[in-house]
Amino acid sequence: MTAAVPVLTLDGPSGSGKGTISRLLAARLGWHLLDSGALYRAVGYAAALAGIELTDADAVTRCAARTRIDFRDAADGDQTRVLVNGVDVSAEIRTETCGAAASAIAAIPGVRAALLAKQRGFRRPPGLVADGRDMGTVVFADAATKVFLTASAAERARRRHKQLKDKGLKVTLADLLREIEARDTRDAQRAVAPLIPAPDAVVVDTTGVTVEVVVERILALLPGH
Ligand code: DC
Repeated sequence: MTAAVPVLTLDGPSGSGKGTISRLLAARLGWHLLDSGALYRAVGYAAALAGIELTDADAVTRCAARTRIDFRDAADGDQTRVLVNGVDVSAEIRTETCGAAASAIAAIPGVRAALLAKQRGFRRPPGLVADGRDMGTVVFADAATKVFLTASAAERARRRHKQLKDKGLKVTLADLLREIEARDTRDAQRAVAPLIPAPDAVVVDTTGVTVEVVVERILALLPGH
């Protein structure tokens, strides 16, 4: 029955606009939304909190398997809340430190395996917008519509800088650019589920393009829309 549920996958590097665009697309379509990055961030957070060495693959894998991660719709209907073992860590997991921890633990095959079934469980009628790095290549390889979003590293750093500043977090643009480039390299070069477009993905470059235009372009790719 799940195979009949349509999935729109959106993969791409950090700052490509995936988060905002996925949310808007899910709202426009009335489909469910999977923010898979939040799952990796939650595991990175839980592991760090438990004092686990992030390079200890076995310990982090065990942590991924036993950590309960829940998504809750926010009262304001905007950002989904993320709960780790019942505790709301939505703000904590958005820091750059947690992003780096997520990227590090995401290279561990056992962690990816532990999160696979959970991610596939989001595929429910009437449809799913799946945001991540390997949605179209691994998790929903049978999805009918796959998009790979890109933007120049400089533009992604600028967007991220604005986002973090708006949240009151202090970080310099130069540090952010360095961090983004390091994370891109790590995500693209890891042996398991590296960040690459699926062969059947449509690559959409968002550099200098408004969110609204990107959303319309993607909607036009969906059969019947
Ligand atoms: O999308 P994000 O920045 O919240 O993701 C955080 C990290 O999690 C990212 O650096 C790589 C990892 N990730 C992944 O490996 N696979 C996914 N499907 C989503 C995220």
